[in-house]
Amino acid sequence: MNNKMWNWFNERYKIDSLREFAQKKSVPLHSATIWYYFGGITLFLFGVQVLTGIFLLLYYRPGVDTAFESVKFIITKVKFGWLIRSVHSWSANLMVASAIIHMFSVFFHRSYRKPRELSWVTGVIMLCLLLTFGFSGYLLPWNELAFFATKVGTDSARAVPFIGDMALRLMRGGADVTGATLARFFGLHISILPIVFAVVLGVHLFFVQLQGMSKPLGHSRDDGKKRSMPFVPDFFLRDLIVWMVVFNIVLMLAVFFPWELGVKADPFSPAPAGIKPEWYFLFVFQSLKFLPAHIGPFEGEMVGIMALGLVGLAIILLPWLDRAASRERRSRWLDAIGVFVLLYFAVFTILGYVLD
Ligand code: HEM
Repeated sequence: MNNKMWNWFNERYKIDSLREFAQKKSVPLHSATIWYYFGGITLFLFGVQVLTGIFLLLYYRPGVDTAFESVKFIITKVKFGWLIRSVHSWSANLMVASAIIHMFSVFFHRSYRKPRELSWVTGVIMLCLLLTFGFSGYLLPWNELAFFATKVGTDSARAVPFIGDMALRLMRGGADVTGATLARFFGLHISILPIVFAVVLGVHLFFVQLQGMSKPLGHSRDDGKKRSMPFVPDFFLRDLIVWMVVFNIVLMLAVFFPWELGVKADPFSPAPAGIKPEWYFLFVFQSLKFLPAHIGPFEGEMVGIMALGLVGLAIILLPWLDRAASRERRSRWLDAIGVFVLLYFAVFTILGYVLD
């Protein structure tokens, strides 16, 4: 920006203070610095989702008679439509993966501890929103796979005690998965979720800027050596390089493995064999399948869903459940729980793929 313009803005909006802030911001340097990139990668992929989503919206038409046809039009007739759709789908999956990696890295480095409790809580909320983004987006092409996976997915709401039936009807807009469900999922996917996500993301990033990056345990001792890097331009330029690499990966996946459309959903046909949800829901799907029909006086599925709810609650409350949080202590048992959760997720996801 030339000097005159800078002065004009600065007199009115004090942008010098922003520059000062950016100059002061630094990123700690240590053996685990690489994990700091994953929050940024998730952020970058969110940008890709918004942009490609807007392009898709130019041609997508929700509705039982139009949804599948409009997606078919996008991938066969619209110039580069197939690429935009494929990038949107691949990037959505990579975004979930990168958010999960980011969360585990925050967990293992204990970065959620005081004063970053609310960065953790807003993060967990965003992960839930992200999964809802995935679940609602999956149905939009109205193909066979999505239709039956949504039927199975929404059906598990039935197992929630007291409010199960109401939740199911609320999600489906009736007793079955119909055009009303599609309309709801569409509204959720393109308007409610983006707005809520953007607000929570804004708060999350505000907290991160305010508090700066945490140092992992054991790295807080000051031995006089320089152990940080300026955010602008050093770390930010590295961020940009990582984003370019990630974007190339997304593009290669989108080009060499274009996202399939399959066949149009026929609500009156029997469910085809091997219907499965997206990979990030597979561990839940597989866990519920392993449960017996009844556990004591309760339905097996209900016990599973309740257990999952409790685990979710424990994850949100983690900064307050971690009793060593106020001290510089590692607590090995918490590491062991983290490894167990990670292995459970990985093993049950793989089982979900290989078992029928
Ligand atoms: C879903 C979208 C998310 C986006 C776009 C996002 C973005 C970011 C960014 C850019 C940073 C700063 C760089 C970094 O530490 O990697 C950050 C830090 C942080 N995030 Fe997230 N995040 C997301 C999800 C999550 C989740 C799921 C959690 C945990 C449950 C979480 C917890 C945190 C915490 C505690 C920090 C501070 C880390 C530190 O100071 O070392 N975030 N996030």
